[in-house]
Amino acid sequence: MSNKMWGGRFSERPDAIMEEINVSIDVDRHLYAQDITASKAHAAMLAAQGIITANDAKNISKGLDTILSEIRKGSFEFKRALEDIHMNVEGRLSELIGPAAGRLHTARSRNDQVATDFRLFVRDTIDDIDAALARYQAALVRRALEHADTVMPGFTHLQTAQPVTLGHHLMAYVEMAARDRGRFRDARKRLNESPLGAAALAGTSFPIDRELTARTLGFDRPMANSLDAVSDRDFVLETLSAASITAVHLSRFAEEIVLWTSPLVGLVRLSDKFTTGSSIMPQKRNPDAAELVRAKTGRVIGALNGLLIVMKGLPLAYQKDMQEDKQGAMEAFAALSLAVRAMTGMVDDLMPEAERMKQAAGEGYATATDLADWLVRTLKMPFRDAHHVTGRIVGLAAKDGVALHELPLEVMQSVEPRITAQALTVLSVESSVKSRTSYGGTAPKNVRAQAKAWQKRLEKE
Ligand code: ARG
Repeated sequence: MSNKMWGGRFSERPDAIMEEINVSIDVDRHLYAQDITASKAHAAMLAAQGIITANDAKNISKGLDTILSEIRKGSFEFKRALEDIHMNVEGRLSELIGPAAGRLHTARSRNDQVATDFRLFVRDTIDDIDAALARYQAALVRRALEHADTVMPGFTHLQTAQPVTLGHHLMAYVEMAARDRGRFRDARKRLNESPLGAAALAGTSFPIDRELTARTLGFDRPMANSLDAVSDRDFVLETLSAASITAVHLSRFAEEIVLWTSPLVGLVRLSDKFTTGSSIMPQKRNPDAAELVRAKTGRVIGALNGLLIVMKGLPLAYQKDMQEDKQGAMEAFAALSLAVRAMTGMVDDLMPEAERMKQAAGEGYATATDLADWLVRTLKMPFRDAHHVTGRIVGLAAKDGVALHELPLEVMQSVEPRITAQALTVLSVESSVKSRTSYGGTAPKNVRAQAKAWQKRLEKE
């Protein structure tokens, strides 16, 4: 038998390979809730406009509710022969309510239908990820307040640079997550227009009310151009871009956790909850969750690249290529959501080795800049000269294998006679971080104020 939905023009069954390459139900079944919601809105509008009868609309709506509960219960039979979610739902609807089911597709095409469903799906995804990111921020802020005074080494080039506080470091990721959330919000705004009613590509001759369906589905307005409505997937691309940047942020933090928990570095420990052992090496404590967050980034960026490549040469309007928009994106969103939740768990879990952090913060002459700043402030030396003087002092300390604050004052004075004992007070890591009070700097009181402000802001959301 040829296809029930378009069989009129066909006399032969599709080849098995045709069916296999064409079928998308394994992926788009995840759109079932959105598909049913959109169909109900469409049917109600058709009735309101007198295009179908109120009775048909009522039966369609009831039938769709039944299908929803069948799918939720797991009793719905998804049929590969029916290709995708749209035809599976409609096929079942006709079993349930008979010929009235055939009226649902009036003034609609699968092209505007799938565009609508996927917009609704991506919108829900954005809201979920936003909520997960808010929880991630809250965890970071909590730990930052706890560790506003915990001194650790700050690095550039992965070389010890200047002491910072762990709280300050954690708050950096709060700011990144805030921009990530902003990008998702922006994408949501542009996404939130309704393609429904664009029909196949040209609109329809029926007197539909696209404002009504848009409103019912929580869209801000109908999309203004029917060709655009069924042809573009920029809303997926934009959301995947936001997801990619978010994943990159998470990945960098995950990498730091991997690095910090390495016995070579030893700045942080993770509890048994976020570590795994080795089947052969009994001593191992592997930060697998952090490694997997780092790796999931590949999946997210891969999905973005994949869809950009699918879309880049497509003429208007709908092309079947676009059916490939969902799998990668859905997997990417799931991976990102898991990564955010895993990072939140690790933020809560991580145990800083405060003593080791402080010791490491003082290694590698991390307070050399503080000495140079002291020379500028106290002796009014130009910074370039102070840099040079300090460099020579660091050189002498390194030759003797001692830290800056261990270097006898006379040795410093042999380089710059005007240096007094007071200079030694700026060389501790604590006084170094305390002095960084410029806006956005690492001073504990700054960090505390920033974290508290964020706490308020997150509570208000
Ligand atoms: N399963 C299709 C997709 O995801 C639905 C749209 C099909 N439209 C068509 N004209 N074949 O893109």
